[in-house]
Amino acid sequence: MAELDPWGSSSIDDYSRLSEEFGIKEFSKSILNSSQKIKPMDLMRRKIIFGHRDYENISKAISNKDDFAALSGFMPSGEPHIGNMMVMNELIWHQKQGAETHFVIADMEAKAARGMTEKECQKYAKSYTASMIALGFDTEKGHIYKQSENRELRKLAFELSQETNFNELEGIYGFDKETSIGHIESVLTQTADILYPQLKKPKPTVIPVGIDQDPHIRLTRELARRSRYFGVTEAYASFELKPKWKPKVKEALKKLGDKTESRKIAEQLKGKVENKLIKTLKSGGKEKLKHRIRVISRKAPKESFKKIKKTLNEKYEIQEFEKHIDIFNASKLKIEEIVREIEIKEGGHGFYPPSSIYHRFMTGLKGGKMSSSIPKSHIALTDKPQKGHEKVKDAETGGRETAQKQRELGGKPDECPIYELYAYTVAKNDEHAKKVYKECKSGERLCGECKQEAAELTSQFLKKHNEERKKAKEKIEKENII
Ligand code: TRP
Ligand code: SF4
Repeated sequence: MAELDPWGSSSIDDYSRLSEEFGIKEFSKSILNSSQKIKPMDLMRRKIIFGHRDYENISKAISNKDDFAALSGFMPSGEPHIGNMMVMNELIWHQKQGAETHFVIADMEAKAARGMTEKECQKYAKSYTASMIALGFDTEKGHIYKQSENRELRKLAFELSQETNFNELEGIYGFDKETSIGHIESVLTQTADILYPQLKKPKPTVIPVGIDQDPHIRLTRELARRSRYFGVTEAYASFELKPKWKPKVKEALKKLGDKTESRKIAEQLKGKVENKLIKTLKSGGKEKLKHRIRVISRKAPKESFKKIKKTLNEKYEIQEFEKHIDIFNASKLKIEEIVREIEIKEGGHGFYPPSSIYHRFMTGLKGGKMSSSIPKSHIALTDKPQKGHEKVKDAETGGRETAQKQRELGGKPDECPIYELYAYTVAKNDEHAKKVYKECKSGERLCGECKQEAAELTSQFLKKHNEERKKAKEKIEKENII
């Protein structure tokens, strides 16, 4: 079984290892703050958003006020809860930073993977939408759609389905012969969701999700690449430059300027990578080693490839090959831009690989995973304030067996659902969250009073949210939003 299972129930306990294994980069708020203008959202400041792919593209777009998009989807398979609220708030935050924001109701997935009926989907879709609006989603500027009702999306899903096959899905998701075709279709639909904001015009797009959704992100990034007319890479000679070679190549090239030195370098550089590199450099040594940007024809029709050649030839020194063009003295970014522009004119999509951010999961109130199918594990956004209060009072804690031990040893906030409740949702501000953590650790705080405070804050939050939901529901009916 694939290790990250989007439909599984396993909780994840080692985030850093996952990052290493799957190439997810650590999210630090400095990624936003190079311009000092953007104030990170609370989930970023509190390290609940811990990882990302290509978020640099997004923070650049925010600072430069360039076009960019944010999209995420929700299965209407139950009432929304405070765990789902994280993604909602992430979307809304990006909308406030200027993102073209898409809120997707994943009704096809809810039917295929959770056996929901159309009627249930409609009910929960409305409920999700009500919370989304209650939390500040701007329906005037933003977009909402249901997967099954979006014609353009269906077309894109079909197009992307031609770029993959069952073997690949088996490898990623552990699908087998019993897997329903509907489930497979819902996966392709999700890849289409993720690229949907770029259909009219390619733009950096961020997909905020839980880490369990990363298989979908990886697949989509690959399908986006495969559906491009052209690829742009960097090279030094007839061979391509592998990222891990990069620092070595620069060093070796410098020295290779003097031919008599090259043998010495070969001796100096040890290890597999280095030897392979030297061999390649030597065999490529008949041609002049020179930095170049390479445009490769992928799915480009012949005519489009000719056009690219012509355009680049007007501006740059180029060398033509059968399936690629090498361009000298050019910047990769600039060439990517030119290539994308021509690709779109020629009828291609010119997709950017989607960016993503990943948040930690909330632990269930009773320990284990927070799940929509276990009411006691979560606070539903539809819970009455009194009910929320009770659930908090009834939750597990990271406290010691006795008050005396707690005073002596301190509690374990890192293993406490109540502490998470503060950090993810109800803390008044960062200082408040920090204070709870510190007081717990030092033994100053006892679980009874701590829960009481969290329960009150939760019921206050629910009271306000319930009211906002009421207004939002009226808006949904009046404006026929979903
Ligand atoms: N698969 C997601 C879930 O289980 C829902 C989803 C559908 C989604 N389409 C999406 C998430 C696009 C992110 C982007 O919750
Ligand atoms: Fe959790 Fe609060 Fe108890 Fe600490 S004092 S373990 S944060 S409930």
